[in-house]
Amino acid sequence: MINPVLSEMAVYPFTRLEEERRRLVAAGVDVVDFGKGDPNEPTDPMIRQALVDALPERAPYPLAQGLPELREAASAWLERRFGVAVDPDREIVPTYGSKEAIFSLAQVLGTEGRVVAFGEPAYPVYERGALFAGARVQTLPLRRENGFLPDLGELDADVVLLWVNYPHNPTGALAPRAFYDELAEAAERHDFVVGSDEAYTELWFGEPPPSALQAADRSRFVVFQTLSKRSSMTGYRSGFVAGPPEVVAALKSYRPTVGTAPQEFVQRASVAAWNDERHVDETRARYRAKRDVLIPAIEARGWEIVASEATMYLWVVGPDPEALLEHGIIVSPGEMFGPSGQGYVRFALVPTLEECERAAEILGELP
Ligand SMILES: Cc1ncc(COP(=O)(O)O)c(C=O)c1O
Repeated sequence: MINPVLSEMAVYPFTRLEEERRRLVAAGVDVVDFGKGDPNEPTDPMIRQALVDALPERAPYPLAQGLPELREAASAWLERRFGVAVDPDREIVPTYGSKEAIFSLAQVLGTEGRVVAFGEPAYPVYERGALFAGARVQTLPLRRENGFLPDLGELDADVVLLWVNYPHNPTGALAPRAFYDELAEAAERHDFVVGSDEAYTELWFGEPPPSALQAADRSRFVVFQTLSKRSSMTGYRSGFVAGPPEVVAALKSYRPTVGTAPQEFVQRASVAAWNDERHVDETRARYRAKRDVLIPAIEARGWEIVASEATMYLWVVGPDPEALLEHGIIVSPGEMFGPSGQGYVRFALVPTLEECERAAEILGELP
């Protein structure tokens, strides 16, 4: 009765971590949870106020194409942030966060029986979207010696969609801007589309990372942006896709059937969020403060921090997740994100600064 893709699927990895957290809390353990990447940062009051001000007496069904104000705000932000001109009417469509849109791209492109490829370790949604679309999956191991970039020479000849995600979850690795030009050439040569998941471009601590949209030829790139991490708005569900006009047109005809347009009051709060950078600077400063507490504590144990240049994650060699659990510290075992994650753990810097300080003390006292 149930779709075999669903019944054969392992439990969504974070469901397992949440069960573990509840077990510890029930046993009275004071838990510091570096597991799931849901920011605990407050949403800026200016954004919350914009939502309240936009709440109408009656909210009609939102349209899939989204409010013109939101598409324009997204386009203006792309211009300010990456120096690219993206047409708000033909090349942008708002999404309900980015996860649902990432999930459904394999269906929108008609990948059935063909190959969808992605690097691993990875965010699990590329694979799940591909399987539900009836595609075959190719995983490309992301190796430390390659800076966690995929080896494009390993791509299957039948690939129709390749996912990339930089800054990368879970490793925190960055892609240089030239990588996107190499990708564009490979995509043109082998006739595939690139899905670029850019959920973490705004959580940087050195230079601001590039976007795939900055490639000389972006005609095969579909870019996914979101306010979830940039503006700590996971629960609002607001993002957008920027892509070639024919893909955006296909999304506009697919999406009304699924019903995934964000509520208009959320879209208006999103306009306020995209138009402001002050709160994003403040968010980065908060993550930077947590890094300043945890990085020395992790290194003092002799563990090694690898990549971890951007995002809210630290990718670490050395700790034993089970042993940390005994001391109330939850981290994600690297293999949760794919076989190449073996030997690593991921710290998501979502606990408060005070909790990070407590965790640093616990780490200092471990035997
Ligand atoms: C790599 C990556 N992409 C996309 C998302 C989706 O975020 P959202 O649906 O909240 O935009 C996440 C969320 O954790 C993520 O880690």
